[in-house]
Formats: sequence, C-alpha cells, structure tokens
Amino acid sequence: MRTRNTKAIIAYLIGVACLVSSALASAESVRYTADILPILKRSCQGCHNPADPAAGLAVTTHAELSKGGASGPAFVAGNPDESLLIRLISGDKPAMPKFAKPLTPEEVDLFRAWITEGAQDDAPSTQNDPINAVQPPVYTVPPVISALAYSPDGKTLAVSGFREVLLHQSDGSGLIARLVGEAHRIESITFSTDGAVVCAVGGTPAQFGEAQLWNAQTHGLIRAIRSTYDNLYGVSLSADGKYLAFGCGDKTARVVSTEDGSEVLKFDNHSDWVFGTQFSQDGSHVVTGSRDGALKLVNVSSGQFIDDINASNKGFGGINAIARHPKTDQVLSAGIDRVPRLYRIFRETTRDIGNTDFNLVREFEPQSGSVNAVCFNADGSRVAIGAANGETRIYNVSDGSLVASMQGDDVCVFALAFHPDGTRLAVGGFDGKTRLFDANTGQLILAFVSVPIGIQ
Ligand code: HEC
Repeated sequence: MRTRNTKAIIAYLIGVACLVSSALASAESVRYTADILPILKRSCQGCHNPADPAAGLAVTTHAELSKGGASGPAFVAGNPDESLLIRLISGDKPAMPKFAKPLTPEEVDLFRAWITEGAQDDAPSTQNDPINAVQPPVYTVPPVISALAYSPDGKTLAVSGFREVLLHQSDGSGLIARLVGEAHRIESITFSTDGAVVCAVGGTPAQFGEAQLWNAQTHGLIRAIRSTYDNLYGVSLSADGKYLAFGCGDKTARVVSTEDGSEVLKFDNHSDWVFGTQFSQDGSHVVTGSRDGALKLVNVSSGQFIDDINASNKGFGGINAIARHPKTDQVLSAGIDRVPRLYRIFRETTRDIGNTDFNLVREFEPQSGSVNAVCFNADGSRVAIGAANGETRIYNVSDGSLVASMQGDDVCVFALAFHPDGTRLAVGGFDGKTRLFDANTGQLILAFVSVPIGIQ
C-alpha cells in the first residue's frame, strides 16, 4: 500500500517545472497564494488563526484578512500607505510579527506590490471545494485507517479519515469532533505530551505535504505547515513540544519549529522514502527510518548525520515504522523483512569493519506478514506489532515473549495505539474499522467504523 510510482512523480515534476516557467514568462504580478499566503502561514498564522485570533484578526484566508481585526480591515486594496498591515510590518522596528524577526525588505515589498495591484485573491474558489469544517466530508465507504493516537489522559482516540482527523471517545462510544483540513491524506498522528495539541501529518499526493497542529480543546487549527510536494509520514514531537519531525517522499526527513513553522533541519542522507521519525528523550537527536532499510541518527541543531544505528541493514528490506521506547533511548523498527528489531539509539561500542549490529538490543520473532505499524505501551514494558496480513501481536520487551495475538478479519493493519493505561490496543487498517482489543488476552472488545457513512 505504500508503493509509489516514481515515474509518475517525475513526470509530474517535469510538468510542474514547465507550468512554472510559462507562468513566470507570462505574468510578473504578485500572487496571493504563491507569494503572500506562505508568508502569512509561516510568520503570522500562529497568533492570527481562527481558533484564537490575536486582536480579532485571522489571516488563514483572504476573506479573513480583508475583514480584518479589532481595528478594521488589514489592508486597503490599491493603497498600501493606508493599509494597517503595511504600517505594522514596516519601519525600523516593525510591530509585526510580534516577538519575532521582522519580515525581510523583499517580503515587505511583496505585500506592498500585492496591495498596490489590488490585493486580488487567486485561491481556487471555495465553491469548487465544498469541504470544510461546516461541511465535512461525506463518505460512502469507510476510508483506510493509516493513523491512530490516544490522548495522554486516555479519554480521546484520534483516527485518520479523508481530509480530516476524527476525535472519538476512547471507548468507541461516540464522535467528539472532526478536524477538517486541506490535506487529502492523514498518514500519522500524535498528541503533545500535555495533550493540548493534536499533531497530524499527511498531504495531497503529488501536490503538497502538510503538518497540522490542532487545539485539542477548541478543535481549531493552530497552524498548517506545508512541506515538499507529496505526503508526509511518521510524525514525532520533541518532549518540550517545540519541534516536529516527519519523513518525506522526497527521501528527506525534516524538523520544523511548532512555534512559527520554520524549517530547522532538512536531512537528505537516505536513498528512499522516509516513513518514520523519533526524537531522542532530550530532543537533541532525531532517528529516521526509511524504505532504504536504514535507521539513521541525526543531530537536530547541527543537522549532522551521526550514525547508521542498524549498521548491518543490508538485506533487511524497507523500514515501514519506528517507535521510541517511552522511557529510554531505544527505538523499535520493522518493515518488509517481518523481523522487528529494538536498537540503542546511541552507540556504546565503536563500529567494526564487519558492520556488526552492535546497537541491537533484541530481535523479535518474525511476523506472519511484513510489518506496517509498531508502538510501545506507556511504561515501555510491551510492544505491539501490526502486519500486512491483518495479524497484530503484543510482546514483552524484556524477554521478547508473546503476550497476545489478534486478528482483524484478515485486514491489512496500518495503525496501532496502546491506551495509556495499557489495557487496550486500538488497531486500524484497510477496512476503515477501528478495533479495540484487550491488550492482555487479545480479545476483540469493539469494532466500529470511524466515520459517519452517507450522512453529513
Ligand atoms: C506572537 C504573536 C503574533 C504574531 C506572530 C503576529 N502577530 Fe499580529 N498581532 C498580535 C497581537 C497580540 C496583536 C494586538 C496588538 C499588539 O499586542 O501589538 C496583533 C495585531 C496585529 C494587527 C492589527 C489587528 C487589529 O485589527 O488591531 C495586524 C494587522 C497584525 N497583527 C498583522 C500581523 C502580521 C501581518 C503578522 C505576520 C507578519 C503578525 N501580525 C504576526 C500578535 C501577533
């Protein structure tokens, strides 16, 4: 399910390159979607978003920006000198963006030019895109579940849908909220340690990748961060919540600031798609797992590649999923070769010429299918491993012994999450049902379709 057609992507890119060059040749004017909106998203939307708009001003859409905030419209089309926005972003000590580096003179010029030219909105009409928070997606069949996450207090289970993250009561008794965004696919979800933020990554294939930060209480979008031209995978948050890491289809892994969306790290040492990222406990390093089979260690602040954690990965096949032990610097990786492996993140023994797998802590028994999802329980005593043939197994980490095995109607498993109290395991996959299993016995407690079918 993860295989992508590289040729199609390359053909698409060549197409885009041609379109871009012809657009440049034909029109020099400043465009709202290409020039203005990315700056607003990066530098302003963190404080000026519909969920919690500073001074009543949201800048997420053209309509909100022209409506303005407490002091009225943010701009006067055709007249930059009369525009509040221009006044606030220019001068010696610009008032906006508040508490941050001023925009560059080039960026300020873009705003001036755009307003001078009439401050047009070239965004595709929302009438052509009828899906939003008020009119959420309507389903005729359940979408494949590619991501699941429990809130740290155990009350909420976040489930991926088409263009949305669905927040369910964790016992499956009802839908709490639908977080509807622009990305068609949601590939990975995590909560911040304090449970205040729901973090999701995904994208619209061959168009854009997107990381979304949602307020878990008000359900408003805090920030959407676009990156690359394709889906993002394997989201992780640093323990202090300041950094967000994800893997990309362009063979990179990236780290961005959750505060302003700026890119802190672009790691391009893999030779294939990156499906997983995990921060070390102190957030100083990030581990990346890729379809190229390698598990790599990177220093976040310097961007330096430190180590191949699984030194002898030749012949392992692609890594589909990784998870960090909640209490130690160990990471579990698994994928095509069906064998989950637990590694120390930081090397204690120097490499030898034979590339011995010195960081390996434990190898678990081979699974009955290639592995798509792995997760730890909250105290790190157990791991769950979900396979493409629909079987999920739970093991004791200390000795690798099997605790329970569960089968969900032969449905390919894509997503797993342990309830924080460790008693339940949520499993999601191809048939769009969320299954809740007893994590000690492996018995099915409940299976439910995570989206409303046929109703709005
Ligand atoms: C860290 C939070 C923060 C960021 C980032 C930020 N603002 Fe503001 N903005 C505020 C606050 C708070 C106010 C209210 C006035 C004040 O406290 O200075 C405000 C006021 C404004 C106003 C006046 C709204 C009104 O109607 O009174 C405009 C316009 C504005 N900001 C534009 C921007 C733009 C453009 C950016 C990005 C380049 C930006 N802001 C970034 C916090 C922020």
